[in-house]
Amino acid sequence: MTEPVRLVDALERIESEGLASIEAADSLGVLEELRVRYLGRSGELAGILSGIGQAEPEDRRAIGQAANTAKRRLQEAHTGRQAALESAESAGVSKADLTMPGRRAWEGGVHPVTRVIDEICEIFRELGFSKVRGPEAETEWYNFQALNIPLEHPAADMWDTFYLADGVVLRSHTSPVQARIMETHEPPVRVVVPGLCYRRDPFDPTHAPAFEQIEGLAVDETIDFIEFRSAIQYFVQRFFGLGRRTRFRPSYFPFTEPSAEVDVSCGVCNGFGCPTCKGTGWLEIMGSGMVHPAVFQAVGYDPERYTGYAFGMGSGRIAMVRHGIPDIRLLYEGDTAFLSQFIS
Ligand code: PHE
Repeated sequence: MTEPVRLVDALERIESEGLASIEAADSLGVLEELRVRYLGRSGELAGILSGIGQAEPEDRRAIGQAANTAKRRLQEAHTGRQAALESAESAGVSKADLTMPGRRAWEGGVHPVTRVIDEICEIFRELGFSKVRGPEAETEWYNFQALNIPLEHPAADMWDTFYLADGVVLRSHTSPVQARIMETHEPPVRVVVPGLCYRRDPFDPTHAPAFEQIEGLAVDETIDFIEFRSAIQYFVQRFFGLGRRTRFRPSYFPFTEPSAEVDVSCGVCNGFGCPTCKGTGWLEIMGSGMVHPAVFQAVGYDPERYTGYAFGMGSGRIAMVRHGIPDIRLLYEGDTAFLSQFIS
């Protein structure tokens, strides 16, 4: 006599649990799982009905009725909930937080120093300069002597570097490629030479022991200081903008005579003086000068016949000047939080 009571109790429990879960279903997927669980062919209701055969015959009617009621109510609840979820879905209302930022695809970009190198080479390409490269492991001859820097001369200290073997160094500038190109090519020569250089320098805000340089060299029969100045000025305005002024400051390099440091007017204060240019209104961008006759002699060019100009700039320094970057180390650390600012 206990059987019908237990079955009817079970039906009531299934009904109330099922109704509550169906009302709480927050997606059509969850709702479908609930339908299968309660109303499906091997669901909870079907389970009860399959046990009806064991009940006393006079109780079967009551159990059957209770089962039908439960089934009807669950079906109604399911239909109602399904309609509600479907209309919410089609109206675009969901539990998704629409204010949440989307997931962006990973975006790569060209490193600011690489971009500087590419742009400089492109500007000089338009002026007729080819892009060439030279070895980073260089002989003392090309790094020093061919450039009119005797090893025992104090000027050699300015290009002190790491020795790989006797007479073999990591080049401390791209200037040795000047000599290599002139040895293998007759004038006219117009080349730019990007590449890594090495120095016995600390890694501090303005120095890096390995850094990028771009060399330029033009040699021909009629090149004079005016052509040199015009080429540099043209480059500065193309690269930094028409409003920027160029200043040549007398300087010294063993492989150029006369020599000049080239400054560009500060883009932050337009030359009035500010913290970026340390109050001077100018930012230094390169060393340069007319090729020294001793260099022509070293490579077998006739110094009476040929003249030329050369320049060398630090591509990292140029990137710093361009973007107002205060510390050169930022350019060589590979920190994506910093670098992602330069994705254009
Ligand atoms: N090689 C020089 C340096 O590294 C720069 C330079 C290049 C100066 C060409 C004059 C001419 O400092």
